[in-house]
Amino acid sequence: MRLRSLIPCLLSCVLTLAIAGCNSAPGRPSADSTVPRPGQVLDFPTLYSQNCASCHGVDGRYGAAISLANPVYLAVAGVANIERVTAIGVPGTAMPPFARSSGGMLTDRQIAVLTQGMSATWGNPAVLAGSAPPAYASAAPGDPAQGQKAFALFCARCHGADATGGHADNGVVTGSLVDPAYLALISDQGLRSIIIGGQPEQGMPDWRNHLSGSAARPMTGQEITDVVAWLASHRSATPGQPYRQQP
Ligand code: HEC
Ligand code: HEC
Repeated sequence: MRLRSLIPCLLSCVLTLAIAGCNSAPGRPSADSTVPRPGQVLDFPTLYSQNCASCHGVDGRYGAAISLANPVYLAVAGVANIERVTAIGVPGTAMPPFARSSGGMLTDRQIAVLTQGMSATWGNPAVLAGSAPPAYASAAPGDPAQGQKAFALFCARCHGADATGGHADNGVVTGSLVDPAYLALISDQGLRSIIIGGQPEQGMPDWRNHLSGSAARPMTGQEITDVVAWLASHRSATPGQPYRQQP
């Protein structure tokens, strides 16, 4: 793109070279360039496709985390949390920091455009009507033993009793949630976000609808915290290395 703005410059250089020499250095964008500098891009579709779509999917779905286009997720997380995560990233995962103050490439204004654009494009303010949503983040550590029981009640029918996989009501096959290699790529909050918001495009409901039938009720915040603690208890210090190191 910069190259195209150089064409007039190079042409004028050629024309004026014989007379006066060239005073405009090739490779240096001209001051009146109509191509915006990276920090000047302020529209949501461009910022999203340039910075986020490669990992989070072109439409905010089928990505490496909870779908950013999930309206339940957007409503429970809220603008402030989404803005903070986008700015500082999620340490220990592939989610990089984007704020310049954290070594990223985006201005605070661009991060605000992204955050508001996600809500405006994919959000639905009415989606939580009539429900008492759990907190986005858990305030205290969970109890893995309780979490195993809650997993059996709410999750096992689609993910298998031992969480190594099963299939959903719609036939979609689910992968293992306790494989150390999987757990190495996702944070506890990443697990919690998926339990709260679900993966509706693949057949996983949100926290209100994990149970079906006459006993159906939403999960409590504590149950979500405990299930995350049980899944996280399968984390390995050496993921991808199933064999003990030689002493
Ligand atoms: C009605 C079926 C259903 C229920 C109930 C359900 N899930 Fe899922 N879940 C799915 C499907 C389908 C997927 C997408 C396929 C996959 O990723 O394995 C999924 C994906 C996930 C993922 C993302 C996996 C990945 O590969 O990134 C997590 C984490 C998860 N579920 C956890 C849970 C937990 C914990 C519960 C219980 C609190 C639960 N699910 C309840 C069907 C369900
Ligand atoms: C290199 C891959 C990558 C890129 C690029 C990327 N993300 Fe992420 N993002 C991830 C992963 C992986 C996670 C899940 C982290 C975890 O497990 O908590 C994540 C998590 C998130 C979350 C938090 C989800 C939650 O659970 O609350 C938000 C918000 C987010 N990303 C926004 C963005 C935005 C906005 C952009 C573009 C400016 C972006 N990401 C670019 C990989 C990426």
